[in-house]
Amino acid sequence: MRFDIISVLPGLLESPFAHSILQRAQKKGIAEIHVHNLRDYSTHKQKSVDDYPYGGGSGMVMSIAPFAACIEHLKSEREYDEVIFLTPDGETLNQGIANQLSSKQNIILLCGHYKGIDQRVRDIYVTREISIGDYVLSGGELPAAVLVDSVVRLIPGVLSDETSALSDSFQDDMLDAPVYTRPADWNGHKVPDILLSGNEALISKWRFDQALERTQQRRPDLLQDKD
Ligand code: ADE
Repeated sequence: MRFDIISVLPGLLESPFAHSILQRAQKKGIAEIHVHNLRDYSTHKQKSVDDYPYGGGSGMVMSIAPFAACIEHLKSEREYDEVIFLTPDGETLNQGIANQLSSKQNIILLCGHYKGIDQRVRDIYVTREISIGDYVLSGGELPAAVLVDSVVRLIPGVLSDETSALSDSFQDDMLDAPVYTRPADWNGHKVPDILLSGNEALISKWRFDQALERTQQRRPDLLQDKD
């Protein structure tokens, strides 16, 4: 799977993909992540990528020309399944959307800044608009990194069996049960006896009950969505 991320701040995206699972996925050749500097596609002397809004108002708007040049360049090299614009007014990212995207081959991600991007970029090129939550960040780079992380870990072969994404919170619309490791007793704070019992069936039931209770307490909406 390949991601092409178009950004005015490519430096912001140097680190998030250079560690741990995302780094391993790239080393194994399962995921490719390419970051493109939007300014490289500006034809202005100053490499500017934004302009004043038509109709007045505060803030600058990102221009269509550099986005169009970069997207057309990428599309001339391969086909893309999706062109996704990260924006607070998009559909909210969830596990279901991450699952859907993990079966795609090539995805372009557009990171916005300033007051937004010229609506024509959205009308002409964007196939999907995604938000990572109801709050406004300074730009689309961190949301792009969040989206890539949530998707790449789901691609078969990225996680080992033991850490399989299938057991993640949200994967069956439930939060995870609590987990513990050694020591069994920390200054009187004990690990639940059942986890030390060796009885797999009981442990499995305990985990399910705990997950259900946690979900009922913290995210009852997840259980309601089910029916
Ligand atoms: N850009 C700024 N805020 C954002 C958000 N919450 N989600 C996606 N893109 C954004």
